[in-house]
Amino acid sequence: MDAAPFPLGAAIDQRETTGAAGQALAHHFTQLTAENHMKPEAWYDDDGTFAPDPQIDALMSYAQAKGLRVYGHVLVWHNQTPAWFFTHEDGTPLTDGAADQQILRDRLRNHIHAVAEYLADGWGEFGNGNPLVAWDVVNEVIDKGTGFADGMRRSEWYRVLGEEFIDLAFTYADEAFNDRHAGPAATGRPVALFINEFDTETADKQDRYHALVSRLLERGVPVDGVGHQMHVSLDVPVESLAAALDRFAAMPVQQAVTEMDVPTGMPVTPSALAEQGHYYEAAFRAFRERADVLFSVSLWGFHDGRSWRDAYGAPLLLDEQLEAKPALAGALAGLRAASPS
Ligand code: XIL
Repeated sequence: MDAAPFPLGAAIDQRETTGAAGQALAHHFTQLTAENHMKPEAWYDDDGTFAPDPQIDALMSYAQAKGLRVYGHVLVWHNQTPAWFFTHEDGTPLTDGAADQQILRDRLRNHIHAVAEYLADGWGEFGNGNPLVAWDVVNEVIDKGTGFADGMRRSEWYRVLGEEFIDLAFTYADEAFNDRHAGPAATGRPVALFINEFDTETADKQDRYHALVSRLLERGVPVDGVGHQMHVSLDVPVESLAAALDRFAAMPVQQAVTEMDVPTGMPVTPSALAEQGHYYEAAFRAFRERADVLFSVSLWGFHDGRSWRDAYGAPLLLDEQLEAKPALAGALAGLRAASPS
């Protein structure tokens, strides 16, 4: 995808780093995200000891060898996070009292600093040869419904610390990745710090997301970027994807499409695959026209056989034989379409 005016990424695991898949991935994409193996649970053994999953090493070394960027996913989330983060040693839950809040702040800071130190020790300081260029610092912190006035998800992070956990996560990440472990050759802040969210193309979610990012920026929280997952389907208007990006364009942030996939629905028919091709073409044209605000565009998976949504119908650009689908031709056509001047 040489035509892309922004880095193009795919979410993968170790299986895509070797053999034909490893070659094809580096041919089509310029960035990777760990689909699962940089989430909080991937860094600890069952006893809660810091013990990074070997998949992390495989992904980092593959990226470094192939000259691909790594988009980190994710430092703080309510899913795929060890339960001990939120409990005392005897298993009782942390409360929102001052002492317990400090325990959780310390755990959050220790986690982020341990991750940064491990990655810097193994693959170089940030901005100085390390392939890591960004993190989703927090993920899915907005509530799904509209039940709470502040619009925030009642996660364990939120239950103990309130919205402060977001400010702290960005502050600690900035400290660890852009200061303590940033290389001397690094200019500026080498690791871009993103907030990430799903359904940002829908009205309520988008309003609450925009309001939260405004509050963070007003408080001086070091947010560099706003991520849009874009797990969509053929009935989500492409105009709403473009509108989601435009909604944040006036803010002093970059944006990223972080997890795009577009299942056809079942059964997967030739006409559905053709329609999917047109969808990707229109979406990638919209992305191309907004390349100046886009840090990267990532697909959530490399080929249909490895997609978390394959049961809903062949969501990605390549089929499981790594053959190009109309979706790939569509994405390329969208990228090549002349942008309006
Ligand atoms: C998904 C993975 O694709 C699955 O393999 C895993 O079982 C669950 O998580 N939003 C996110 C991603 O931010 O981390 C999720 O990834 C998909 C939804």
